[in-house]
Amino acid sequence: MTGTFRAIRASKGEKAPQIEFANLTEADLMDGDVTVAVEYSTVNYKDGLALTGAAPIIRHWPLIPGIDFSGKVEKSDNPNFKPGDRVVLNGWGVGEGHNGGYAQKARVKGDWLVKLPDAISNEQAMAIGTAGYTSMLSVLALEKNGVKPGSDVLVTGAAGGVGSVAIAILAKLGYRVIASTGRMSEADYLKGLGADEVIDRNELSNPAKPLGKERWAGAVDAVGSHTLANVLSMTKYGGAVAACGLAQGMDLPASVAPFILRGITLAGIDSVMAPKEKREEAYRRLATDLDMKKLEAMSFRAKLDDVPKLGQDILAGKVRGRAIVDVNA
Ligand SMILES: NC(=O)c1ccc[n+]([C@@H]2O[C@H](COP(=O)([O-])OP(=O)(O)OC[C@H]3O[C@@H](n4cnc5c(N)ncnc54)[C@H](OP(=O)(O)O)[C@@H]3O)[C@@H](O)[C@H]2O)c1
Repeated sequence: MTGTFRAIRASKGEKAPQIEFANLTEADLMDGDVTVAVEYSTVNYKDGLALTGAAPIIRHWPLIPGIDFSGKVEKSDNPNFKPGDRVVLNGWGVGEGHNGGYAQKARVKGDWLVKLPDAISNEQAMAIGTAGYTSMLSVLALEKNGVKPGSDVLVTGAAGGVGSVAIAILAKLGYRVIASTGRMSEADYLKGLGADEVIDRNELSNPAKPLGKERWAGAVDAVGSHTLANVLSMTKYGGAVAACGLAQGMDLPASVAPFILRGITLAGIDSVMAPKEKREEAYRRLATDLDMKKLEAMSFRAKLDDVPKLGQDILAGKVRGRAIVDVNA
């Protein structure tokens, strides 16, 4: 139908959000100075929480979920954007309090958008998604805290989205990557992405000692809880850990010993409200430091119709790597 576009819409339900496929019009979109013809979105862990209601991610009803999208600018009242510009959006509360990426059209604040570098296609931007962009922010934080290529870096939640992209970036930059996973059957996949060593996540999932054997100079942790406590306790003197996720839990049952006896730095990573300059730096670096063949190897294609099921699967730890959702398929 002319003037309409297809979208997933979440309405408040008794226990979980009610998810429906709807044909909407621009009148259904929220305020913003740039309208984007959305081409691709993706499914992150947070999208799984939003779609299933496993956590109260959605703050406005009804809402188009989807925390990421890429596409082309259709209309712009923002001086920084013109029709045809290729753009990506990650976070800023989109898919939480503002209509998101599971639709063929989006209207947002231009200040939330980043122009994609030539080396990253709109499809690749969603293979990267919030997960991959968070991986890059994490690697930047390790670099800023003195972790040098050649040293051992641990990646937890390795077969997930953040983990898979982090492994590929770190391997290309010349780090020796140790991947921690609960899916040892994925060891070959993880080695294909660049992991030098694969360990079972059970080694890290139980209550931690204040200090353990020094094993890695840095870590990208997507898991939190006991895992992060163990990661800190086994980080080498002067090392750094980027904490970006909570797949095991939001708690941090750790001691201060790694900080006061080994000078470890714990760097917090937030992708949602990260300032524009940091985002642009992350995308510039992704364009050079992420092997696009590896990105392809960790990605799979999906349609808008597949999104509700993928939301359940990602929470059940059944999704490997990154989903590219073609919203027009
Ligand atoms: N800080 C930010 O701005 C930001 C941005 C994006 C994501 N995140 C967070 O980062 C985490 C990963 O996101 P994602 O999109 O990569 O999700 P994902 O694809 O589902 O990956 C999470 C991975 O964590 C591991 N895992 C799951 N449950 C676990 C448990 N109980 N104990 C230990 N490991 C477990 C699994 O890896 P294996 O199968 O390999 O064990 C899983 O694949 C999530 O907590 C997400 O909310 C934060």
